[in-house]
Amino acid sequence: MIIARAPAKIIIIGEHFVVHGSHALAASIDRYITVSASHSTRDELFANGRPVKADFIFNSIDRITRGSHVKLLVKSQVPNGAGLGSSAALSLASAIAVSKLFGINPDPAFLFEVSMDSERQVHGNPSGVDVAASLYGGFVLFKRGEIRPINSAKIQFVVIDSRQRRKTRNLVNRVKKFMDFNPDLFNALVNSTDMMAEEGASAISEGKLEKLALFMNASQSFLELIGVSTPKMEKIINSLKGNIMGAKITGAGGGGCIIALPGKGSVPKGGYVVNAGVPGAYEINFGHRAQILSK
Ligand code: PMV
Repeated sequence: MIIARAPAKIIIIGEHFVVHGSHALAASIDRYITVSASHSTRDELFANGRPVKADFIFNSIDRITRGSHVKLLVKSQVPNGAGLGSSAALSLASAIAVSKLFGINPDPAFLFEVSMDSERQVHGNPSGVDVAASLYGGFVLFKRGEIRPINSAKIQFVVIDSRQRRKTRNLVNRVKKFMDFNPDLFNALVNSTDMMAEEGASAISEGKLEKLALFMNASQSFLELIGVSTPKMEKIINSLKGNIMGAKITGAGGGGCIIALPGKGSVPKGGYVVNAGVPGAYEINFGHRAQILSK
């Protein structure tokens, strides 16, 4: 049996616009999907002990297994449909574990491609930012065809789960409709987001957190404009004001998670945002890159 794990991610700037050509700034977080792979007589996947139909995984790893069958035991610390990249982490951890099981030493480009294949089946038109953040770990500045790791001191974000669940594919389709109705406006938002993601990456390297927070808040306005925010998410974001420098949806929106950048000074242990009266908040640290755990 081979065990591999891949981290979830947050998008700090650039979700949706990255699908249409902008850069996005993302980071892996310390919530993981762990996959144990072994040979089997049929393809089967168990998630936290329960059998799950996961054709998208088996279709994509077929280029490794070439018709042989595998059993995948999945342990997940990442909620589905919450904007934290659970499908990318699952695809990547599966691709790594199964590659090793079949004696392949996969390079990052191969793992990226196998995972993108399953992401395409789930989302339709994924940019690849989720896979890139999970594959490389830490902060990444991503654009289709380009992945740049960003050096940074430790920055604390807080993740708040709205507990609304949704499908990324539906949100990506909604944004496509907005783009088709408002092409010039959408193009301007793509260009501004591109600038904010690039300058946000520099702000992270230089520790200029006020600047990063400004971009996060602007980014939230853009996401509201293109219709992927929800009243519940906006209520949570408004309730944080005064306690944090910046806050926004992370991932596809329509529910799922919000990220907040706390103000200067230390974050009290036990949950800064919980103290601000918001249930469902948890503190995170940055995640390790996708990797083999044991063989
Ligand atoms: O909500 P998630 O984790 O599926 O994030 C999707 C990010 C999008 O930009 C909306 C889609 C993409 O492929 O980049």
